[in-house]
Amino acid sequence: MEKNWTSLWLKYHAKASRNNLKFCEMVHLDGFNERSAIISNALEEFFRGVNGMLGVKPSLIKEANIKNGLRILRIADEMIPDEGFRLTAEADHINIEASGENGVLYGIFFLLRQILMEKPLDGINITSIPDIKNRMLNHWDNLDGSIERGYSGSSFFFKENKILVNERTKDYARLIASIGINGVVINNVNVKDAATFLITPAYFDEVRKLKDIFAGYGIKLFLSLNFAAPLELGGPDSADPFDEEVISWWRGQIATVYEALPGLGGFLVKADSEGRPGPFTYGRTQADGANMLARLLKPYGGLVIWRCFVYNCTQDWRDRKTDRARAGYDNFIKTDGDYLDNVVLQIKNGPMDFQIREPVSPLLGGLKETNQMLEVQIAQEYTGHQIDVCYLVPMFKEVLGFNHQSDETIFDVIKKIGFCAVTNTGNDENWTGNDLAAANLYGFGRLAWSVSLTAAEIAEEWIKMTLSCDEETVSVVKKILLSSRETYEKYTSPLGIGWMVTPHLHYGPSVDGYEYSLWGTYHRSDHLGIGVDRTLNGTGYTSQYHEPNASLYDDIETCPEELLLFFHHVPYKYVLKSGKTLIQHIYDTHFEGVLEVEEMIRAWEGLSAKIPAQVFKLVKERFSLQLINAKEWRDQVNTYFYRKSGIKDEKGREIF
Ligand code: GCU
Repeated sequence: MEKNWTSLWLKYHAKASRNNLKFCEMVHLDGFNERSAIISNALEEFFRGVNGMLGVKPSLIKEANIKNGLRILRIADEMIPDEGFRLTAEADHINIEASGENGVLYGIFFLLRQILMEKPLDGINITSIPDIKNRMLNHWDNLDGSIERGYSGSSFFFKENKILVNERTKDYARLIASIGINGVVINNVNVKDAATFLITPAYFDEVRKLKDIFAGYGIKLFLSLNFAAPLELGGPDSADPFDEEVISWWRGQIATVYEALPGLGGFLVKADSEGRPGPFTYGRTQADGANMLARLLKPYGGLVIWRCFVYNCTQDWRDRKTDRARAGYDNFIKTDGDYLDNVVLQIKNGPMDFQIREPVSPLLGGLKETNQMLEVQIAQEYTGHQIDVCYLVPMFKEVLGFNHQSDETIFDVIKKIGFCAVTNTGNDENWTGNDLAAANLYGFGRLAWSVSLTAAEIAEEWIKMTLSCDEETVSVVKKILLSSRETYEKYTSPLGIGWMVTPHLHYGPSVDGYEYSLWGTYHRSDHLGIGVDRTLNGTGYTSQYHEPNASLYDDIETCPEELLLFFHHVPYKYVLKSGKTLIQHIYDTHFEGVLEVEEMIRAWEGLSAKIPAQVFKLVKERFSLQLINAKEWRDQVNTYFYRKSGIKDEKGREIF
């Protein structure tokens, strides 16, 4: 297979600074087996990296007393759990100390990152332990090769109902292991057609190959499961989790799966959601459904990751009582404490669906007795389809840092369980459609490993490894990335209201596109104002938060303004803290958003001599599409609200 994909941030090309050479000429292993899959992959990575960057071919030596090299040592230190490592430099060699093989792998990737960033290794002394236990990616790849909400080509896991296993699979495992990912779900949460058969012998051989490749990089493989599998795979005519026949069918199925695929991480389940079947169909709770599977998976050490994206997707837009934002909490809170310990509830960051701005879901941390995993989306479904630049790490940091109650952040709630992202990869040459979108993949992994890293630090690492260590490049690209989310927000839907997108496609504006639909995603604009009243006088959603947040959101005066329209129906003439009226704020931000995109384009063009030609050209093309998109949003949103309100722009700019 001809390699037609880039190396992203594992770009082991020649590096000017050869200071680090003295640490890379030989390797000695103490307490680890060079033939185990993880260690041999780690060594291979080290050899490949230093050969590419520093031009040396290190040798593996038996003598412990090494010079100019790397010493890898197994230690028993409770302070450094399995995945962690300690890296220390002595005069003429470096030590990586770890208690487990994964720690060695991560230590080597850390070392290579330092070299890639042209940072000297002299004097280094760090201990690195992941902040979050499970750091996972969810692929929404279908077996026919398409990707639900995929914006960078088709799947590199599936094609025409077959599983692909090739060199790219291994490169993918290397890439995500290098940023600390330790779990991957390879198939779409909407499990239909051939995907239902992934848990049958038809696919075992190929799934096993994928599982083993990932295992060699410390990554557990998971599968998305169809809750109605018994009906579709010739089992009983029911999926009722209390039905003995159903239970015994699953018992047999799971036994077959684990016999063929030992070490499989477990299953991800989207049940009772957007047309997917689930326990509600049989009058059972979500806990009944999840526990049935969990009980059967327990002997194999498998997890049931159960999604909480359960809401009524056939709502009547005339009905102002039903509030989709309430649904996750309302559907799950009563079952808090009912789940077995190998069940994890996977909860989207916001109560709606990955909008550019949402409050944090009150279910996160609302649950007290249940394992919770945070789900975010780096596939840019509502944030520009990897055409528009939108660096999402600042958003993820806001979510993790949110104090859902005094002294407890979302990070505290999920750290012992997990953090996952719906991924943005596909088989495009550059993996992510827009080269700059790879910063989100990189950033998600790095953040999940180390939540105290700033969005700027992560951006800087990514730029240095992927594009260049040149100072101007770093500063210009960093500025583009760090401002991109706010720019996107400025030209799209204002102040937390969300949506206003082209239905189904979810790219480009259509202010009323979902206003009279079944999906529960309304902005409720009229001639006087805009926004959804989710206060105690409205849908009561604010009461799902702990204090002080509940009161803070409930009062229009204390509600954070970036979320104003999510929580309140606000008159156009309402005066914001900036002194501007709401309508003027809408006009101003939309004009600004477009100007900011133009500014980004100018900044990018200034780097033409410094960025690899292919990347420069492709990103430039995407920017020109982003500009068209931004203008369309600006004009449609401004015109819509001008026509609704009849209020003119104070600055007399063009509105249609
Ligand atoms: C969104 C998205 C769907 C996806 C769903 C989910 O609604 O548009 O394509 O299936 O989220 O998270 O399950």
